[in-house]
Amino acid sequence: YVMTNEGNESETELQQKRLPNALIIGIRKGGTRALLDSLARHPSVRACSRELHFFDEQDNYKRGLEWYRNQMPKSLKNEITIEKTPAYYVTQDAPRLIYNMSPDVKLLVIVRDPTVRAISDYAQIFDKYQGKIRPFEEYVTKNGTVLKYSKIVQTGVYITHLKNWLKYFPLEQILFVNGEELIKNPVPELKLVEKFLGLKPFIDEKLFYFNETKGFPCLVPPTQTNGEPTKSGCLSKDKGRPHPHVNEDVVTLLRDYYKPLNEDFYRTVSRNFQWP
Ligand code: A3P
Repeated sequence: YVMTNEGNESETELQQKRLPNALIIGIRKGGTRALLDSLARHPSVRACSRELHFFDEQDNYKRGLEWYRNQMPKSLKNEITIEKTPAYYVTQDAPRLIYNMSPDVKLLVIVRDPTVRAISDYAQIFDKYQGKIRPFEEYVTKNGTVLKYSKIVQTGVYITHLKNWLKYFPLEQILFVNGEELIKNPVPELKLVEKFLGLKPFIDEKLFYFNETKGFPCLVPPTQTNGEPTKSGCLSKDKGRPHPHVNEDVVTLLRDYYKPLNEDFYRTVSRNFQWP
């Protein structure tokens, strides 16, 4: 129990596990971990650190909503409980299942130039298979054309996936976060997220510093009161991997392929992300 000082002194508010009222649903390699960890610094945010893959993997979904709720950290009634699994955005059935959980859940999608996203996705797969995979160019093109149905390419067609979500959720319930901005200048982007989630303004410049070695913004570690060494506020080395060099013609093919799809996406969400 936590005593609240507001109103009735004897009033106690229960800390309990609750279903998320916000979800980071994608996109894979968009910066979902950075977004979750940054938001988790807000005193009214309770984040589930592990990707639960509840709405995209049937075996998990079969465990039921009570199981899902049990994975959440404890929270007070007015706090935000948030989970992230980037696979949700591209899962056909996820909008329906999430709607069935709670039609008013707030959805966050962090987007990034789909061509760069594809290369980042490849770099992750390359690591996973210790380099024993085909070159990037073969993953995304064949005989000078884009392989539209390859997973790496398809994940970046944000507009198609969005249409699937709009069957269940109004656009106002989905916030698109700019992944490039989250790297260059995270605070303004995070303030938009705070506002969207109805949180009190808390996130500011004092929360971040630019780590030259990492080459990314990192969270200022929380002050330690017990004299133990502070944890690095940078993400792990699998976030911000070097990207392989890619054949320029293949980059052009991908950019040309995504261009009209990106424009359709900008129009739909009323924000121009200006991907090259
Ligand atoms: P790269 O590894 O291609 O650089 P996700 O967490 O969704 O897998 O996204 C990973 C991406 O988050 C990284 O892609 C990186 O560019 C981006 N990112 C954003 N902010 C970051 C930060 N502060 N530290 C490290 N990576 C960050």
